Amino acid sequence: MCGIVGAIGDRNVLPVLLDGLQKLEYRGYDSAGVAVRDGSGELKRFRSLGKVAALKGLVEQSDITGDLGIAHTRWATHGVPAERNAHPHMSGVRVAVVHNGIIENHKELRDQLIAKGYSFTSETDTEVIAHLMADKLETGQSLREATINTAAELDGAYALAASSPEDADRIIVTREGSPLVIGLGEGENFIASDVAALLSVTRNFIFLEEGDVAEVRRDGVIIYDASGDEVDRPVKESVLSNSSIDKGPYEHYMLKEIYEQPGVISETLEGRIHNGRLLEASFGHETTALLDKAKHVQIIACGTSYHAGLVAKYWFEEAGISCNVEVASEYRYRKAVVPQGSLLMTISQSGETADTLAALKGSRSQGYIGSLTVCNVPESSLVRESDVSLMTRAGTEIGVASTKAFTTQLVALRLLTIALARRNGLTSEQEEVMVNELDALPRQVEVVLQLADEIQMMAGDFSDKQNALFLGRGPFYPVAMEGALKLKEISYIHAEAYPAGELKHGPLALVDESMPVVCALPDDPLLEKVLSNLQEVRARGGELFLFSDHKVEIDLDRYQNLMLSDIYPGTAPIVYSIPLQLLAYHVALIKGTDVDQPRNLAKSVTVE
Ligand code: G6P
Repeated sequence: MCGIVGAIGDRNVLPVLLDGLQKLEYRGYDSAGVAVRDGSGELKRFRSLGKVAALKGLVEQSDITGDLGIAHTRWATHGVPAERNAHPHMSGVRVAVVHNGIIENHKELRDQLIAKGYSFTSETDTEVIAHLMADKLETGQSLREATINTAAELDGAYALAASSPEDADRIIVTREGSPLVIGLGEGENFIASDVAALLSVTRNFIFLEEGDVAEVRRDGVIIYDASGDEVDRPVKESVLSNSSIDKGPYEHYMLKEIYEQPGVISETLEGRIHNGRLLEASFGHETTALLDKAKHVQIIACGTSYHAGLVAKYWFEEAGISCNVEVASEYRYRKAVVPQGSLLMTISQSGETADTLAALKGSRSQGYIGSLTVCNVPESSLVRESDVSLMTRAGTEIGVASTKAFTTQLVALRLLTIALARRNGLTSEQEEVMVNELDALPRQVEVVLQLADEIQMMAGDFSDKQNALFLGRGPFYPVAMEGALKLKEISYIHAEAYPAGELKHGPLALVDESMPVVCALPDDPLLEKVLSNLQEVRARGGELFLFSDHKVEIDLDRYQNLMLSDIYPGTAPIVYSIPLQLLAYHVALIKGTDVDQPRNLAKSVTVE
């Protein structure tokens, strides 16, 4: 995985590189490093274990500057988090490389290089790239030729940047399966894993395509496609703003993002509903034409986005269209039978998740009528690779634990539900009800956010717990899954979600006085059944933490209940997700974990 940045100009580029790395920490943060060409023309490397702030401290202690450099923030795959495994990797002093991706044949390559006399100082797959390049430079190849010929020997995914003291005027980059953008400046140019890293220096970007190789120089960029021909790639102006990545008055990005939800939900609805009607034309002609043909929907996603897909399955099937949902890492490796008229739908915050992208690419030969992505990043690979997209407008999400991206995904999926239901006999009265529910949603979310103090009190009862169970039925089962995921990823409490009716088939054995059980209890047709399931928990001493709306009467001997105001059935899964986000946040706060960057995780998983 990891994030890479590079810069070449006539000024000291170290601040640009370090700032860029910090913006890329969502891709990994277990170690970081930078190599710059200093005044003497040599490559000077700094590496450190831990976050980019540690690297910054190290760099600040030296007086080295450089006008060309490459840098990296790492999420360990091959080799433990350690300084020796941090990038850039070098072969002697001849070449430095930074790499995002995984080289699957690194073992064979390593053996061949060792046989040739190269010695390795790390356990990474990346170090083979540095030595392969040095081997080719040795034979008189240029840095570009060495990069192309090295890439030809690699199996796997990579975005890589290389610099050599023998070539003071260029950084060579190439990509296959991992993203890479070029940022264009005046007399200086940049590269990065994504635009967010470079917004403080440019708004103009070129997105490299699979197999592209680029020479990034001070005075321009030359791009060659996979067959070696020089090509023009379009320059795109980014609409993202640098300020959207500030924490503002909040202690953590996650909290800021939780509180942004009323606003970003409104933005996601803007121009798409009006006067009780879905404005389907806002989806674009190609999307509506695809929806016309869709008889079945296959949703593919990972993590939180997968949970959004699971909620949508309930919605789509109520709208009369069959739907399957699968995690991308499973889907991509199995033989799927695709029913006629199937639409492939991916859901992703980043649009860069490797498994989701691979599943999309693999689906092209499977007979789908087309692909639609529900995504948050307009410039992402998934948007570019899909036939059509429906953008969520959550803005930049920094907290590793996804919050506002999830609820805006659900809003976009609800809009698609209305569109699909229209094709299955939805009356205008029914449509008006569904649209009005969405219209009321930002205000309802605001009201729930006002319960933060009570949720904080509840969180106190979790801080000494090792385990927690989250229960739900119907669309509230995936809501429970998302609540459990939030709690485990940021508080490190083991949390598991179960469909409440399945409890008696195993997990009830775990329930005793030390097991908190969290449950969303909306006023819906399954309420009585869930209450019976909760009786089973109480009878075994389990501690109940319930979230319900006003109309629900609870007949249990002991529980804590947080009452939400009256909520509409169509959007209830969205509203009920908010207190679960806040609960996880406050438990993590009490436990003193790294809320925005929990251990071992990364925001965007760009490797398998
Ligand atoms: C990582 C993140 C999750 C996210 C998942 C899928 O695991 O930590 O928050 O849900 O990737 O990412 P995507 O960008 O495709 O939604």
